Amino acid sequence: MAEIRFDGRVAVVTGAGGGLGREYALLLAKRGCKVVVNDVGGAVDGTGSDATPAMKVVNEIKEMGGEAVPNYDSVADWEGAQNIIKTAIDNFGRIDILINNAGILRDKSFLKMELEDYHKVMEVHLNGTFYCCKAAWPYMREQNYGRIVSASSAAGVYGNFGQANYGAAKMGIVGLMHVLKQEGAKYNIMCNVIVPIAGTRMTATVMPPNLVEILKPEYVAPIVVWACSEKCTFSGYTFTAGGGYFSRAAFVEGPGVRFDVSQPITVEMIDENIDKIVSLEGAKPIENATAHTINALSHLNLGG
Ligand code: NAI
Repeated sequence: MAEIRFDGRVAVVTGAGGGLGREYALLLAKRGCKVVVNDVGGAVDGTGSDATPAMKVVNEIKEMGGEAVPNYDSVADWEGAQNIIKTAIDNFGRIDILINNAGILRDKSFLKMELEDYHKVMEVHLNGTFYCCKAAWPYMREQNYGRIVSASSAAGVYGNFGQANYGAAKMGIVGLMHVLKQEGAKYNIMCNVIVPIAGTRMTATVMPPNLVEILKPEYVAPIVVWACSEKCTFSGYTFTAGGGYFSRAAFVEGPGVRFDVSQPITVEMIDENIDKIVSLEGAKPIENATAHTINALSHLNLGG
């Protein structure tokens, strides 16, 4: 099989100064992509800043013969996000690929979570992803090409104790990608999600050291880089990856039950049928909100 290459393509990888983002940047660059290595260089909780991590990754890329430039702006700031994308345009003339990977953690049980912890996490993850997409979108639309991969998390997709802020933000990102999938379809812009599992400084806060060592970010990067390639014609997909495992997660809808609306529908009828209502036997993913509505109302004679 021919090698999947990125010659002539330009990528922005946010939060690429370490962990998963660094791995995405290195793999793209190895395959000929020009890369903007963005990283604000703060602590896991989002405090502080340091140019060193982004600069180090740029140097690594240059040492292996690749092309990269650093950017130190915060994705959480609209001006910053615009500047991140502008760095790609100014240095390389285009933007084909955006990996929304920058992230912070401020875990606390819901009772103890301060509003500031909520806002900071939303700002980096959800606002940051929204801002970077928004800044890149006009270029991708204009050139009729774009690949966007945004980092979500099992904490949002499935839930995790102590991560109300993070889980909400990460699931917001899934919703954003589902909408951008619709709006980008006509322009060959594919918008997907990665739910990774990897040992990084972020997961070192919760994972035992041996797992951090085993679960290398390089085991996640191949599917993210594939989703950034011309080969990827999927959009609105949520890929999961970690430790050599690759899969797809999705919202699915069960066949449900359909009551005759010419009769009153009572709370007791729900109770009597609740097992059927919640059953996922024969469940399927649904393409978009319109398809959901058509499917949901298919038993009604709506006329027209
Ligand atoms: P990491 O902490 O090693 O990397 C995150 C990077 O984002 C850091 O280098 C940090 O400086 C940068 N960053 C933080 N705020 C920023 C901002 N405002 N602007 C620009 N850069 C900023 O963490 P890791 O594990 O590599 O995480 C990468 C992404 O994957 C995150 O979005 C994280 O939430 C997500 N994720 C990771 C999992 C894992 O198992 N490692 C699991 C689920 C999701």
